[in-house]
Parts: sequence; structure tokens; C-alpha cells
Amino acid sequence: MKKVLALVMAAMMALSLVACGGSDSSAAGDSAVNSVVDGVSSAVPAGGTVGICIYKFDDNFMTTYRNKLEEILTGKGYEVSIVDGNNDQAKQTEQIQTFITQGVDALIINPVMTSAAEQIVTMVKDAGVPTVLINREPTEGEMAVYDKIAYVGCDAAQSGTYQGELILETENKGDINGDGKVSYIMIQGDPENVDAKLRTEYSVKALEDAGVEVEELDMQRGDWDQEKGQTITANALAQFGDQVEVVFCNNDAMAMGALEAIKAAGRTVNEDIYLVGVDALDAALDAVAAGEMTGTVLNDADAQAQKAVEVMEALLSGTTYTAEEQQIYVNYVKVTPDNVSEFMAG
Ligand code: GAL
Repeated sequence: MKKVLALVMAAMMALSLVACGGSDSSAAGDSAVNSVVDGVSSAVPAGGTVGICIYKFDDNFMTTYRNKLEEILTGKGYEVSIVDGNNDQAKQTEQIQTFITQGVDALIINPVMTSAAEQIVTMVKDAGVPTVLINREPTEGEMAVYDKIAYVGCDAAQSGTYQGELILETENKGDINGDGKVSYIMIQGDPENVDAKLRTEYSVKALEDAGVEVEELDMQRGDWDQEKGQTITANALAQFGDQVEVVFCNNDAMAMGALEAIKAAGRTVNEDIYLVGVDALDAALDAVAAGEMTGTVLNDADAQAQKAVEVMEALLSGTTYTAEEQQIYVNYVKVTPDNVSEFMAG
């Protein structure tokens, strides 16, 4: 019955949207209904059009994230259009402009380049479109010129720290060969991105802060990509052999590639090498459960999507954000063999 009612309401919202041309957010605001997200109740517009720009569709984590966004928004009666930036900032900038010209009520943007944030903020500010930036955090202060914009994401330093802790929690604190130092290779995401920078820095810092000596054997950019993760690991294992005790990957896709290379080299995770990632992709959770990955860190796509929609609705309802309020974080969670079952589907 509830479902039928929801469908009828969604149909009515769609009709009212067509009637008002789908571009007048104040008209959408007239038919405000109450919604409860994470226990926070706020008056939100019933339906409306939302343009979503994803930096590239061909990214495992962002695929989970965008599917969740679409599910939540369509479930609430919004008309959603999602576009693929193909990892090309010029293309994404055009897509944003097109959405603005079409008169969308709100935008959710996963920038291609962190460095493009200033330009994006100017565009949406000039058009007066409420906007939520996601996943690629702008530099501090870049959003301050516009009070109808906010960033929803996670504190990348926290995920790095958790990766380091996963190694510290092993029986030999990562020093498998007992030579008094932890020798690692680091496989980075796109280094233009703050997630890659901070995960790299803080994973190693966690070891150093615990008084553990570290040795970086190799650091390469794998651009969040599984195949690159595999190639980089295969090369590093061929070059450094048993010296490699830890493989730090800035995300799980690259860790899955690294796992293939580790197996191909005849090495065994958690026996003669440790492997950690970030995201808690399904494949990584399976690997942690099977003892083929030392651990990962949940990058909570569901919670971030929920929060992004919650903030978008707050903006549509007229809420404004001060510079101090514009960064909204969702926590990362450390995933080990002990708690992995809590994160696995079914
Ligand atoms: C990170 C995520 C990566 C990749 C990247 C894209 O947060 O861990 O897997 O999706 O975002 O910016």
C-alpha cells in the first residue's frame, strides 16, 4: 500500500515538474513535503531535476556510489540525469554548463580535477544552482564564495591511518623478515587527488608514529586502476623479491590487481607479504574473508550518497552553509578478518 502511494506521489511530482518546465526551483519548493534522513527532519521540495556529473563511469567505487545516488533520488521522486566525464575536465565543464542551461534544480558533482573546483564553484554560483560536490575534495576555502554549495566526502587521512594500523595489528607489525624495518611498495591513485596524497602519507605515518622503521622500495601511480595495480606489483616483486613485506594500495581495485601479481609470483598474503586497500569493494571483502588480503577500509558509498542527498535537499529548502560548515564528512571503517562478515551482503 505504502509503495502504491509512493508511486502515485512520484507520478504527481513528475507531472507538476512537467507543468512548471522543470526548471523553477521555487515552484518545486511550493509543494514541500517532509522527509527524514538520518533522523533529521526537513522540509524538502517534492521532486525536481538533479544533474549528476561523475568523473568517469569506469571506476569501481564511483559506480557503486552513483548507482546508490540514483536509487535514492529516483526513490524520492526526483528526475535524475547522470553523465560520464570520461576523466576529461573540459568535457565535464561542458556537461555542467549544459545542466545549467537546461535549468536543473540541483547539481551533484564529482569533479574530474580537484584543481577545477574554483571554476566549478564560479559556474554554479553565477547560475545560482544549489550544488553538492562529492568524492574529490576541493582545497580549503574554495567553496567559501558561495553559500549554496557543500562538499560531502570522507577524511582521506583517516583511511590512510587505518591502513597503517592494519599493518601494525599483524603479529610482526609488518616486519615479516625480522630485519627491524618494514619494507613496502606504495601504489597510488591519481596523485592529483587528495585521497591519493593523504592515504599515501598517513598509512606510512601511522607506522612511523608507532616507532616502526619504514623503507619505501617503490612508489608508482596506478590511477585507481586494477590492471595498473597488477603490473606495478608484478614489476616490483620481480625487482625486489622477498624484500617486499607490505603492499599499500590507495584503493581496492589496485589491491585486487596486486593480489593477482602476488599469487603469480608464488607469494602468500598474510604469510610472506601483507596487502591492504581502501573502499571495501565486494571482491576485497571476499579476499579479506578468505585471508587473501590483510584488510581494507570501508569507504561508505551508501552513507555518502545518503548524506549527499540530505545536503542537496537542505540546499533546495533554502539552507545556506558557511565556510566552516561546507565540509561534511562520513567516517571510514577499518575492515579486518574479525569484522568482515558485518560488511558482506547476505
Ligand atoms: C576514492 C576511491 C577510489 C576512487 C577515487 C576516485 O575515494 O577510494 O577507489 O574511486 O575515489 O576519485
